[in-house]
Amino acid sequence: MNLIESLEWRYATKRMNGEQIPEEKMNNILDAVQLAPSSYGLTPYTVIVVQDPTVKEKLSPQCYNQPQIKESSALLIFAPWKNINDGHVDTYMQEIATTRGIPVEALVDLANSIKGKIKSSTPEELHVWASKQAYIALGFGLAAAAVEAIDSTPMEGFNPAGVNEALGLEAKGLSAVCMLALGYRDAPQDYLANAKKVRRDKEKLFITF
Ligand SMILES: Cc1cc2nc3c(=O)[nH]c(=O)nc-3n(C[C@H](O)[C@H](O)[C@H](O)COP(=O)(O)O)c2cc1C
Repeated sequence: MNLIESLEWRYATKRMNGEQIPEEKMNNILDAVQLAPSSYGLTPYTVIVVQDPTVKEKLSPQCYNQPQIKESSALLIFAPWKNINDGHVDTYMQEIATTRGIPVEALVDLANSIKGKIKSSTPEELHVWASKQAYIALGFGLAAAAVEAIDSTPMEGFNPAGVNEALGLEAKGLSAVCMLALGYRDAPQDYLANAKKVRRDKEKLFITF
């Protein structure tokens, strides 16, 4: 399947059959999430990978008992950093310097630009900003899953405070905003498995100049 065929094949799977995703496919999906772009490249979020059934069991009531939680092979939970600060920027500058073999001093303008953005934003604005980056990673994971012929469900139907509590995310400086359940569709149980895709017509979706 080409990319468009894969995107037509995928749907937000409501029921999964519990089958495990092969490690190679899982790694490819995680690679795509890692390759997602972010503002300045800062990547101000962490992705929690849940495969342990006991952890899924704990999360289920916080996700309104949506069946995909327990029936998935893996759950990716996208959690923006709560307290984005200059220390994060300095660590990132060091990573660029090491990866590209350049002195960290050469990155001072970039560092100041990101630090300025942080300084001029409220904690709420920073949370929204970091969440946007996390949603881009969600999108990359969704598309990669489709390419790997792995079913998935993007999810924000959960109680963030409950999920944070269940995983101890607050203590790690994180706050969950969205999830990606990954697995295999249980077509006979899933009323959406054979439903036609509904999308706004291109004439309405796009405005061209
Ligand atoms: C950010 C986001 C959150 C969503 N949350 C849920 C969810 O909690 N549970 C669910 O079953 N589907 C959820 N969906 C799936 C959407 O309902 C679905 O993507 C949409 O109806 C389009 O259908 P399709 O993805 O099957 O093409 C979510 C989708 C997105 C993008």
